[in-house]
Amino acid sequence: MNRQGLESTAKAMVAAGKGILAMDESAPTCKKRFQALGIESTEENRRTYRDLLVTTEGLSQFISGAILFDETIRQKVSNGMLFPDHMTKVGIIPGIKVDTGAKDLAGFPGEKVTEGLDGLRERLAEYVGMGARFTKWRAVITIGDGMPSQGCIDANAHALARYAALAQEAGMVPIVEPEVLIDGSHTIAQCYDATHSTLRAVFRELAGQRVYLPGMVLKASMVISGLECADRAGISEVADHTVRCLLDTVPADVQGVAFLSGGQSNEEATAHLNAMHNLGKDLPWPLTFSYARALQQRPMEIWRGDGANTAAAQAALYHRAKLNGAASLGNYDEGMEKQAA
Ligand code: 13P
Repeated sequence: MNRQGLESTAKAMVAAGKGILAMDESAPTCKKRFQALGIESTEENRRTYRDLLVTTEGLSQFISGAILFDETIRQKVSNGMLFPDHMTKVGIIPGIKVDTGAKDLAGFPGEKVTEGLDGLRERLAEYVGMGARFTKWRAVITIGDGMPSQGCIDANAHALARYAALAQEAGMVPIVEPEVLIDGSHTIAQCYDATHSTLRAVFRELAGQRVYLPGMVLKASMVISGLECADRAGISEVADHTVRCLLDTVPADVQGVAFLSGGQSNEEATAHLNAMHNLGKDLPWPLTFSYARALQQRPMEIWRGDGANTAAAQAALYHRAKLNGAASLGNYDEGMEKQAA
């Protein structure tokens, strides 16, 4: 394992004022997002849309890296360069999603386990050859009646750790993503408990598989009330619960923590991150963003599959990335929402 190389890539991924753009939606997920806006999900439309994202002028001021899907890493941007080559040229580190999706966990109705370990060493080697320098694996944890179960937490934590060890062996920084889903009517206290148990198990397994913590990035979900909760916690409560949970479970030598947005609105996701930096607490790791929906929603709505809207969509992405970059330093305020994109 090249510890120095892993560490320097991980550091660059969570550099001050920057976050990671998640644009690794699988073809079915991309289809769902496109369909909601009346965009046809053809291979060429997916390429064109993602081309728009990575060719946004100046994006690397706020975006350190971007996570690609297998289809995209093999495609070219309009200037003829392969996506990872173009990204490297403009200062955005190319990453790749390597799990093969969350499947029903046998014996645990309603719960999932993420698959993709078989053949992973060979797939990683291919991605390294294409220029990818980091990877992502997402586990999903559901809160509900009797859920999450310890069986589900342990199975996902173990798979995450085996994936992370393989990624580091291949010289790529693993993003370890155990997402506690926002769906449901649970309270913030229930989310705290589920997230705490999950992160404890994940770091126990990572230690068990000898994963080098300064050479990884944790992609965490925020501690937040369920979307259908009758009494949803406010911004400062989410910030406080999330930071307390992380401080209690995430070792100080982890290189950085980047949040997913998980179904929060754009503004909420930004305000929560910003509030975490204004709690007056000393954080041992950089705390930043790795949003998909909360970065892409507006640009996708503006683009709608029409090339005439490309520049406006790119301006919206630039603006959102800038606000999240500010939030990652605690420098965001709501007034910035109204500044011209
Ligand atoms: P969202 O920000 O839309 O939750 O996506 C982040 C991600 O990468 C999910 O795996």
